[in-house]
Parts: sequence; C-alpha cells; structure tokens
Amino acid sequence: MKTRYLAAAGSVVLWVVGLALLQQRHRSSVHSQNFSPHLQLSQVDPSLLAKGPEIFDLHCAYCHGEHGQGDGVGGLNMSPPPTNLILGPWKFGESERQLFEVLTHGVSGTAMGGFPQLSEEERWALVHFIQTSRNDQLKQ
Ligand code: HEC
Repeated sequence: MKTRYLAAAGSVVLWVVGLALLQQRHRSSVHSQNFSPHLQLSQVDPSLLAKGPEIFDLHCAYCHGEHGQGDGVGGLNMSPPPTNLILGPWKFGESERQLFEVLTHGVSGTAMGGFPQLSEEERWALVHFIQTSRNDQLKQ
C-alpha cells in the first residue's frame, strides 16, 4: 500500500517537473521570437516613443553618456569603448532596423549586452531617441 502511494506521489512529482520544463521551453521560444520585431517604429504609439530619453538614461547613459556621445563614466576603460551614437562609427549600421537588432542582441564579446528584457516598444523608443538625438546634435 505504502509503495503504491509513493509511486503515485513520485509520478505526480515527475509530472509537475515535466510541466515546468515544458513551460520553460515554451517561455524561451517566446523569448527568442522577441528577437524579431512584430512592430515597425512607425506603428509605435508616440506617447511610448516619448519615453526614449528616460529609458536611455536608465539603461544606456552609464556607458554611452548622457547625450549618447560614448563618454559615460561606466565606459571610460572599456575596450572596445562604447560607441559614440551621434557620430558613429557603427559596426552594424545605423538604420532603424539595424539599431533595433543591436539593442536586442547586443554585440557579443563586448560590454554591450542585449536588452531583450525591454519591450519592443521600449526598444523602438530607444531607436527613435538615438536617431532624433543624432539629427538634433548634428544640426548644431
Ligand atoms: C555596459 C556598457 C554599455 C551599456 C549599458 C550599453 N552599451 Fe551600447 N555599447 C557598449 C559598447 C562597449 C559598445 C561597442 C561595441 C563594439 O564596438 O563592438 C556598444 C555599442 C552600441 C551600439 C553600436 C553597435 C554598432 O553598430 O557598432 C549601439 C547602437 C548601442 N551600443 C546602443 C545602446 C543602447 C541603446 C543602450 C541602452 C539600452 C546601450 N547601448 C547600453 C556598451 C554599453
């Protein structure tokens, strides 16, 4: 009787562990789908795009500097140094889509990690912020 009970309990445990593993796999595939955008920059609500500067301050300015010029305190001794997002040079291009890719994947082998934890809208808001800052600063 007791062994039967143990066997039943054991299979419940296995079932729960199995479910958890399956769920995790599901979650990581959802995660990897996150790598290609479902949205275009032009589809993102302007009120979300307006959050770009705030998100940049929080996640990027430490290395790339307050104005994106690659001069953040966190990046002083980095090799390669954080890119100057106003002047470049860019290794992966500066189009909307290319910036989105870099923000998502990061640049392997450098201090630039990916930010898949930010929502697509947040990443697009950053792309928008980088492009508008560049246009504004280059005009000056
Ligand atoms: C811990 C420091 C660090 C943080 C934080 C960081 N970056 Fe970077 N970033 C780097 C470094 C270092 C490079 C240069 C990589 C290279 O030259 O290969 C880089 C490169 C880049 C590039 C240029 C890639 C190319 O095409 O050459 C972009 C765009 C960029 N970062 C955007 C961002 C944004 C936006 C954020 C915030 C979400 C951010 N980074 C946060 C360190 C950082």
